[in-house]
Amino acid sequence: MESIAEGLRGTADPLGVHKGFAAVGCAHRFVRMSACRICGGNLTEYVDFGRQPLSDAFVKPDQTENEFFFRLAVAMCEACTMVQLVEEVPRDRMFHHDYPYQSSGSSVMRKHFELVAHRFLDSELTSDDPFIVEIGSNDGIMLKAVSDAGIKHLGVEPSGAVGEMARSKGVRVRTAFFEESTATEIAESEGHADVIYAANTICHIPYLDSIFRGVDALLKPGGVFVFEDPYFGDIVEKTSFDQIYDEHFYLFTARSVRAMAQRFGFDLVDVERLPVHGGEVRYSISRQGERTPTAAVAALLAEEDERRLAEPATVEAFGASVRKIRDDLVALLTKLKEEGRTVAAYGATAKSATVANYCGLGPELVSYVSDTTPAKQHRLTPGSHIPVYPPEVFRENYPEYALLFAWNHADEIMANEQGFRDAGGKWILYVPEVRVV
Ligand code: SAH
Ligand code: TYD
Ligand code: ZN
Repeated sequence: MESIAEGLRGTADPLGVHKGFAAVGCAHRFVRMSACRICGGNLTEYVDFGRQPLSDAFVKPDQTENEFFFRLAVAMCEACTMVQLVEEVPRDRMFHHDYPYQSSGSSVMRKHFELVAHRFLDSELTSDDPFIVEIGSNDGIMLKAVSDAGIKHLGVEPSGAVGEMARSKGVRVRTAFFEESTATEIAESEGHADVIYAANTICHIPYLDSIFRGVDALLKPGGVFVFEDPYFGDIVEKTSFDQIYDEHFYLFTARSVRAMAQRFGFDLVDVERLPVHGGEVRYSISRQGERTPTAAVAALLAEEDERRLAEPATVEAFGASVRKIRDDLVALLTKLKEEGRTVAAYGATAKSATVANYCGLGPELVSYVSDTTPAKQHRLTPGSHIPVYPPEVFRENYPEYALLFAWNHADEIMANEQGFRDAGGKWILYVPEVRVV
C-alpha cells in the first residue's frame, strides 16, 4: 500500500480479505500494524470491536453483498503513548468522490467554524500576503468566511462532491490528499502559508510523517499548524467509544501529540479544550524554538498525568465501561422490542457504525434512522443495514423512542425536534451511560 511510512513494520495481511471483497492488489487490503505508526514502538491492544464496515459507506439496498470489513481494535504505543487502530483501511476506500459527510449539517458547527475563521483573520492572517491552507476542508464550512473576507486560501480535500459544494460557495479547493508532495506543489505554485488548519482530519491520517514533512515545506517561518480532533481524555471520561471507527485512526492526547510534534521537528505550543463533537482539543504546533508553549500546554499535560490517561489500567477500565454500555443498550432495546414499542434512531453518524455493529443492532431493533444528509437517505447503514430516511418520515409518524446516534448534537437536535417530545417521544442516550430522557 502506497502510504506506509518507511521503516515501519506494518504488513499487508493476506488473511484480511473478507467476504465479497476482491483482493486485487495491495492497495485493496487493509494493513495490520504490529508497531506504532508514529515511532515504531511496541503496540499493546486493549479494546476489540470486532468486524466492522466502513463507517461512511451507506449502501444501496441491492448492494449489500459488496461491503468491505476490517477488524476494529484500539492499541496504545508503549513508547510514545499514541492511541491508534491496529488495522489501517486504504484511504481511497473511505475518501472518494461520493464521501457523504457534510460538515455544514449542523448549525452549531457552522457557528463554531465561523469563529475559527475570524480568530485566524484577527490574529494570524495579518501579514502583507496572508495565506491559509485547510486540510480536509469538506464543504467549505470554515473557508467560506475566509473567502468572504477576501483572504487568500486553499482547501485540500480528496472527496470530490463535498469539494464541489465548497467551490459553489466561492472557496478554492484542490481535490487531493494532503501529503508531502501536495504540500510541496502548493508551496511552489501558491507560496507559503501563514496558517495550516485542519478539523477532524489529522486524526484520520495514518501517514502523519508525510503530513509533518508537508507542513514543514508549506509553512512560512513563524507560521502555525492548528488542528482539532476528538480528545482521548473526553472519550475515556464519557466512554464515547463510538468515536472509534475506521476514519479515526488516532485518538490524541496532549502528551502523544507533543511527542509526535517533537519527533518531526515541531513543538506543541498551545492547547484548547473544545465542547464540540463530545469534547475535542485544538492543538497549535510550530517549528521548534519559534514560539513559547503557553501555560495551557503544561496544565493539560499535568492533568493527563494526574488522570493516568496513558496508563494501561486506564485504557483497560475504559474497555470494561464500553462492554457495560453495549450490554445495557442491547438489554434496553430488546426489552422495548418485547414490549412492542416503536424505536427509530436519529443521526446516521459515522460513529453509529461502531455502536450498531458492535452491539449487533439491525432493523429488527431499530426500524430506521432519520438523517438530513441527502447522500445517506434511502440507503442502508453500513454493516447493520438499517434504512436511512429524511426527517420528514420521523416527523410524519413519530416513534415512541428515538436512539440518538448524533448525541454530540443533542442540544441542537432536541431543540429542532421539540415536537417529538411534545408528542410523548423519549430519547435514548448511551453516552456516558445508557438512559432514557
Ligand atoms: N473539516 C471538516 C471535515 C471533517 S471530515 C469538519 O471538521 O467538519 C474529514 C475530511 O477530511 C473529509 O472531508 C475527508 O475527505 C478529508 N480527508 C481525509 N484525508 C485527507 C487528506 N490526507 N488530506 C486532506 N483531506 C483529507
Ligand atoms: P456527526 O456527528 O457530525 O459526525 P460523524 O458522522 O463523523 O459521526 O454527524 C451528524 C449526522 O447527523 C449527520 O449525518 C447529519 C445528521 N444530523 C441530522 O440529521 N439532523 C441534525 O439536526 C443534525 C445536527 C445532524
Ligand atoms: Zn509510538
